[in-house]
Amino acid sequence: MRAGSTHSDVAVVGGGIIGLVTAWRAAQRGLSTTVIDPEPGGGAARVAAGMLAAVTELHYGEEALLALNLASSARYPDFVAELEKASGQETGYRPCGTLAVALDADDRAHLRELHALQQRCGLESQWLTGRECRRLEPMLAPSVRGGLRIDADHQTDPRRLATALLLACERAGVVFRRAAAAELTVERGRAAGVRLDDGTRAEAGQTVLAAGSWTSRLAGVPEGLLPPVRPVKGQVLRLRMPRRDGTYGPFLSRTVRAVVRGGSVYLVPRANGELVIGATSEELGWDTTVTAGGVYELLRDAHELAPGVTELPLTETSAGLRPATPDNAPVIGPTALPDLRLAAGHYRNGVLLTPVTGDAMGELLATGELPEVARAFTPERFGGDEAALPSAQVPYGSEQSKHGEPQERSA
Ligand code: GLY
Repeated sequence: MRAGSTHSDVAVVGGGIIGLVTAWRAAQRGLSTTVIDPEPGGGAARVAAGMLAAVTELHYGEEALLALNLASSARYPDFVAELEKASGQETGYRPCGTLAVALDADDRAHLRELHALQQRCGLESQWLTGRECRRLEPMLAPSVRGGLRIDADHQTDPRRLATALLLACERAGVVFRRAAAAELTVERGRAAGVRLDDGTRAEAGQTVLAAGSWTSRLAGVPEGLLPPVRPVKGQVLRLRMPRRDGTYGPFLSRTVRAVVRGGSVYLVPRANGELVIGATSEELGWDTTVTAGGVYELLRDAHELAPGVTELPLTETSAGLRPATPDNAPVIGPTALPDLRLAAGHYRNGVLLTPVTGDAMGELLATGELPEVARAFTPERFGGDEAALPSAQVPYGSEQSKHGEPQERSA
């Protein structure tokens, strides 16, 4: 082995929250685990607002994703308690609920449709008049004409979550290789780790690609094997709420969101006084420029919802890349290349899906079995191109697990 190279049971490419939770769970199962990332703890979580919005962000045709989102939402309190204990670090989890409001007749019709869809899916949400919305959140504009109160959708602070996961990984013995993965290595028809950009290797029994929007760009991966994961840019603002009577409560007490002129805007008030306003949604490839237009639109829409926002100090502007798949759902599980696993494409729901992804990947890596909850989300649904694989390759569903048991078809 070249000096500086390492070998472990599991190599995770990508040290964002999905890669970190995968590594943490793998290490807890007794697997020696390496994370490859020049800046672990970075990625889209540095920008994300951290809404846990399974009910509010329900979309037509995404009922399967809803089930995964709800499963992860239900795990959040226990997940956070375990992670905070393991890391000694708070995650900013706040079970504060969400209020989705409408400003005009079109918005109200949109919200009414969402309410009907939520009811058809058995989800709880309560229709409120404009006055009832303002009674809950007095900073809302007089023009708010109605809204939906969703008590099950909460928030966490993704930056603190990432830090906590990093510390939990370190304490669980995860090794960090602070370099970029240059190429997947494939030996005898199986994934065998990655070559790093410093020329060394991170060899592994199982390799997990968890590199967000960059997942399908790694060299060495047989063409057609992975579903396309594309970047969708989101610009986000951070403001500071005034502190009164020892709390930050008077500005907003819960997440407030709306669709304004067809664009989604949300205001997420944290317990520490930060107010996050997001987010644009732009198909601009790898561009992460914060633009005057993006900032203007977010402030204009947020000002329509809660005019007082323009009085607050603006402390930060940033832009990140949501990793999106063709059906907006993540890809979790084995690939057609033996020993290559995938945990990527979480798009709008990366923070929400962190607990369930960690649990599913931990189980897959330790036993070869993907839990039922994640089986609808394997890359197989996009038809991994087996023709592109080395001839020694066996197809989906007949891959042998580490323990010699035939692995179940998982979608
Ligand atoms: N889930 C929030 C966003 O993607 O902007």
